[in-house]
Amino acid sequence: MTSAKYLSIFSPATKRERRENFENYWEFTQQHGGELFEEDKDLAKKRARLQHFQLHPVKLRRPLADPEAFYRNYIEMQDDPRSLDRMTLMLTCIYKFARHEWVGIKGAWDAVPDMAHSHTVEDKISRVHLAEEFCHVRLFNEILFTCGLDKVEWVPLGPVKEKIYEQFPKFPGFLINSPAFITELMGVTFYCHLYRLFDEILAEEPEVRDRLKELLDEITIDEVAHVGQRRNFIGPVGMKISKVMVRPLYTLFFNDIPEIKLLLDVNQMIKYGVAFDFNELPPHMIERSWIPSYCKA
Ligand SMILES: [Fe+2]
Ligand SMILES: [Fe+2]
Repeated sequence: MTSAKYLSIFSPATKRERRENFENYWEFTQQHGGELFEEDKDLAKKRARLQHFQLHPVKLRRPLADPEAFYRNYIEMQDDPRSLDRMTLMLTCIYKFARHEWVGIKGAWDAVPDMAHSHTVEDKISRVHLAEEFCHVRLFNEILFTCGLDKVEWVPLGPVKEKIYEQFPKFPGFLINSPAFITELMGVTFYCHLYRLFDEILAEEPEVRDRLKELLDEITIDEVAHVGQRRNFIGPVGMKISKVMVRPLYTLFFNDIPEIKLLLDVNQMIKYGVAFDFNELPPHMIERSWIPSYCKA
């Protein structure tokens, strides 16, 4: 398409462009999230947005037929996933995806310098980034709550996986930058596909469907910005490695969530990740998000 506004996320960038883009992202992120409340791992604007949703709740017209099916399978799948209805599968899938995110950031929060000890723009960006991720877990919790699930617990992974996640942020940049970037890309990929799933699964629940879309938008808008920001950490060699990593990382991650295969096409998501260029995102999302200058046509 000749009218495309944006270029591939894997487009090249010079060192100087990347430095300028860090400065530009830092400006963006401060106005986007508002004040950082470090002790609460929270941000002023994100908090206000969540409170707005909580003050104006919506409910399912027809409550979940079998909430126990969710509670039985949301931490570990106990039943044959094929025996579960698509709504339950979608909700356990959302929890499992969000749980990985939560475990990852919990480990990282203590490993990276707090704002008072962040002396570079990259460190400051990373601190706010993590606070945003904690806001996402609250938004995911609100998604589940909106579907009537008010007893969801955020449970750590097993001790081995927790340790791996804890060590990850302590590795040097050249090792973690590519997987960290692809993980953000995987988030955007999953959320964009999940958004379309709401139309199918919640066709008879327009109020909840629209609310879930609003809640998910709050997350996806941040994640789109994170994709560009994490890409900005990476030089030319790392970008080649990153592109090759899309398939194995997506496959490894999604294999861990048995619901995924029944709800979404993993191969299609891999293709989406490799081809990602911002052009498919709706204008209301682009307006509130951030795209590196070298991805603009
Ligand atoms: Fe996130
Ligand atoms: Fe993110």
